[in-house]
Amino acid sequence: MKTVFAVFGDPIEHSMSPKMHNAAFTDLGMDCEYHAFRVSQDSLRDALIGAKAMGFGGVNLTVPLKEEALNIVDADPLAAMIGAVNTVDFKDGMRGYNTDGIGAKRALADAGVDVAGARVLIVGAGGAARAIGFQFANDGADITIANRTEKRAHDLARDVSSVGTAKGTGLADLKVLISKADILVNTTTVGMHPNTDQTIATADDMHPDLTVFDIVYNPLETQLLKEAKAAGATAVNGVMMLVHQGAEAFRVWNNVEPPVDVMKNAVLEALGA
Ligand code: ATR
Repeated sequence: MKTVFAVFGDPIEHSMSPKMHNAAFTDLGMDCEYHAFRVSQDSLRDALIGAKAMGFGGVNLTVPLKEEALNIVDADPLAAMIGAVNTVDFKDGMRGYNTDGIGAKRALADAGVDVAGARVLIVGAGGAARAIGFQFANDGADITIANRTEKRAHDLARDVSSVGTAKGTGLADLKVLISKADILVNTTTVGMHPNTDQTIATADDMHPDLTVFDIVYNPLETQLLKEAKAAGATAVNGVMMLVHQGAEAFRVWNNVEPPVDVMKNAVLEALGA
């Protein structure tokens, strides 16, 4: 009998995860299927208990369920620190993990960029910034979080400081902050479809030694990444973060090395690239 995997969220119809994981299962000849389910916050507990009872192989969680999951599953230390769970494993009870930060780290590693010892400027202070901030600080990066609502930046920096070096600030001096950074990470929705002409920074703000990582993957090349290329900086798009967070979930569930290239191609095909 097939083993079922799932992603829960709301909205969920545009999730790339089923295509990505089903491509991996097919490639490895595994008798498994991955489906998307619309689940509200109020139903998350019932949905997870039901999934475990029905023998699901594992579940991913997306907006708006990642934080609520902490009240339900047994979260590992990193997920507990981040305050969000994106991967649930049922092998031993109901264990929660957060693979978003690892996905970001591996996306940069694929581009030859190491976060250890790097000065990383994260723009935004939402859930994605939290996952990336904790992961990169834990890996030895020197973090600055710049956010439109400055208080959120200070609050997140204070939390991240528990595992490494982090400070928070507003967006007013972004150009100066970028001049002192090795890696600029956009975790905001600025530049995302349909607002594709928007950008948090332009080429004049950047320098050739900079790596610009945009977690947005729709469009694949955001205005921010166009600006990075114009400045001679290294541009990294959000696709590999998506792929690597999925690949890491796949490892957690299956103890098998996932076919990362196959998963990447499935995502690119789904994006029409
Ligand atoms: P997620 O959990 O996906 O990271 P979020 O919690 O909604 O999403 O956070 C979105 C981030 O993008 C926030 O840091 C937000 O800034 P505020 O805290 O000031 O709201 C940032 N953001 C969204 N639109 C923005 C814009 N037009 N300019 C600057 N920052 C923006």
